[in-house]
Amino acid sequence: MLQQLSAEELPKVEKEIIDFINTYTTHEELKESMLYSINAGGKRIRPLIVLATVKAFQKELSLPVYQTAGALEMIHTYSLIHDDLPAMDDDDLRRGKPTNHKVFGEALAILAGDGLLTGAFQLLSETILDSTETVLLIQLLAKAAGTGGMVAGQAGDMAAEKQHVSLDELKIIHRGKTGALLTYAFVAGGILANQTEYVLELLKKLGGHIGLAFQIRDDLLDIVSSTEELGKQVGQDEKSDKSTYPALLGVEGAKQSLVDELSQAEDTIQQLSKVAEVQPEIFEDLLALFALKK
Ligand code: IPE
Ligand code: IPE
Ligand code: MG
Ligand code: MG
Ligand code: MG
Repeated sequence: MLQQLSAEELPKVEKEIIDFINTYTTHEELKESMLYSINAGGKRIRPLIVLATVKAFQKELSLPVYQTAGALEMIHTYSLIHDDLPAMDDDDLRRGKPTNHKVFGEALAILAGDGLLTGAFQLLSETILDSTETVLLIQLLAKAAGTGGMVAGQAGDMAAEKQHVSLDELKIIHRGKTGALLTYAFVAGGILANQTEYVLELLKKLGGHIGLAFQIRDDLLDIVSSTEELGKQVGQDEKSDKSTYPALLGVEGAKQSLVDELSQAEDTIQQLSKVAEVQPEIFEDLLALFALKK
């Protein structure tokens, strides 16, 4: 199912993003810079979660689903462009290519990020959903991306460089910088599939565990994987003296935390399957993407 979604449905999400950028961007180099990062690829895990969640509730995929997934991927891509800037993580390689600022310069990279961020909300506002649903999707995306979500997490991440933070503080950072957008992917999928408040709460819980797991895994991969495999320079966290799970708990301790989060995610899937008409296998398949390959 996930393979079919990736092969047949994700291109429709990508088309929404690319058409949107081409239609509305009036500055040629800015457009090029935005398309460069979007077209650099990436795993598209967040849009895949949106699509898979809608499918898990046995609803059809439609234009608003592709647009919501597209808006989320635009925000994520902007967060990476800014994350790589010299003032932040100062990285040269992303998605297997030179980072945006290496190709277009810092000013245009900042503006490409601004464009993707703003454009995401325009795209989402243009969905043909019932207006209450559209407003809810926009509001939750703003919360997830904004100053109580991703942006706050990134601020916390920068402040925690060369500092000792407690595990609880680190969890707050990770839940913000990475967990918030991943949680949105599940909840937005639930909203698009017309699920109840109670089900949306469970999706939020599932997203919380998967979001944290995702950043723990990312922190681990920075140590145990390779630049070729990740398409981004490994060893960067240690170089910047970042606060990470492995830095705090060691590699084995971080691996255990990852297993624990995934097991709590599994429990949440079980809870979901008791209260909703859902195909839990789809969530199980998603879960497998977040484990560390042996
Ligand atoms: C990288 O996200 C940044 C984190 C939140 C850890 P992804 O690993 O999803 O990056 P892409 O989209 O595949 O490039
Ligand atoms: C980035 O976390 C999170 C966001 C971009 C919001 P990292 O800084 O660990 O991501 P990578 O390792 O550069 O992809
Ligand atoms: Mg970072
Ligand atoms: Mg980084
Ligand atoms: Mg990282």
